[in-house]
Amino acid sequence: MIKVEGLTKRYARHVAVRNISFEAGKGEIVGFLGKNGAGKTTTMRVLTCFLPPTEGKASIAGFDVVEQSLEVKKRIGYLPETPPVYPEMDVASYLTFVAKLKGIPAGEIAARVDEVCKRTSIDDRKRTLISKLSKGYRQRVGIAQAIIHNPPVLILDEPTSGLDPEQQREARQLIASLSGDHTIILSTHILSEVEQSCSKVVIIDKGSIVAVDSVANLHNRKKAAETVLIEVAGAESLEVKRRLEQVAGVASVASRESREGTVAFDVQSLEHYSLRPELARAVVQSGWNLTELRATGESLEEIFLELTKSEEPKPEGEVATK
Ligand SMILES: Nc1ncnc2c1ncn2[C@@H]1O[C@H](COP(=O)(O)OP(=O)(O)OP(=O)(O)O)[C@@H](O)[C@H]1O
Ligand SMILES: [Mg+2]
Repeated sequence: MIKVEGLTKRYARHVAVRNISFEAGKGEIVGFLGKNGAGKTTTMRVLTCFLPPTEGKASIAGFDVVEQSLEVKKRIGYLPETPPVYPEMDVASYLTFVAKLKGIPAGEIAARVDEVCKRTSIDDRKRTLISKLSKGYRQRVGIAQAIIHNPPVLILDEPTSGLDPEQQREARQLIASLSGDHTIILSTHILSEVEQSCSKVVIIDKGSIVAVDSVANLHNRKKAAETVLIEVAGAESLEVKRRLEQVAGVASVASRESREGTVAFDVQSLEHYSLRPELARAVVQSGWNLTELRATGESLEEIFLELTKSEEPKPEGEVATK
């Protein structure tokens, strides 16, 4: 449904996106994950025909974003990073205005406006001025305008940014409810969002793709060895450290900051060891209180940080596999 091949975008001499390639199949939700300035918005603006690529190609439903931009625009809904605001319009008038722009036949507009308002749960705000809406509602209006012409592809640039946790949850539910009928690319720098919403993740760093994979596979990359956080109360730090170092399968034990009255460590395992049962036993048998024990280092966050930590830009021509 979405295909990007060797895409490069330069602003004057600054390379914002460097030779990236990925695909998104029908009905997929792809998370586009990267830090500030990674190139997410730039890529989305190329996909939505707002910017021409410097090199490479992109297509939506088989239509080229440069040569067949009209066909592409019919098939995509776009929630820009900073949505255009018409503060003096009410929600229904704004959506009617967008519907006209998108060429929806006049006789169908009212029904479409009603439908998208229901879909995005803004029915009760139809006559509210956009300037009077909360950020969460404004974002829903942004999504409503993106789906008004029922496009098969949705491109959402940071759809949950600036929302409170409750509104984020609602926005995620809304996006999930759209995924059956639409192929969705959403950008974010919130890792948990990708884990919760997306089937696939494209990680971009300084304009280059560093990983394209399913969320499950990214997790598996780290599974061979584990890092465990352990917190113990009522014991001397050095004593606990020595004891933990004796547990079978432990590669290293490093102190970390802890709450008052406790000591805490990051324990790294050798490959293929699962340390938690043995660590728990060692602590309890020594007569100490175990206050926390959990695996760390498997989170998408750690994987993301590891993949994006290099200071050097990726050399020209490097493309992620898959
Ligand atoms: N119009 C522009 N002219 C020149 N450089 C630009 C322009 N837009 C973006 N850039 C640069 O291109 C790079 C990628 O920017 P982009 O906005 O695509 O990143 P992003 O991943 O969307 O970041 P953010 O998370 O902050 O939204 C950045 O280094 C940015 O400074
Ligand atoms: Mg951006």
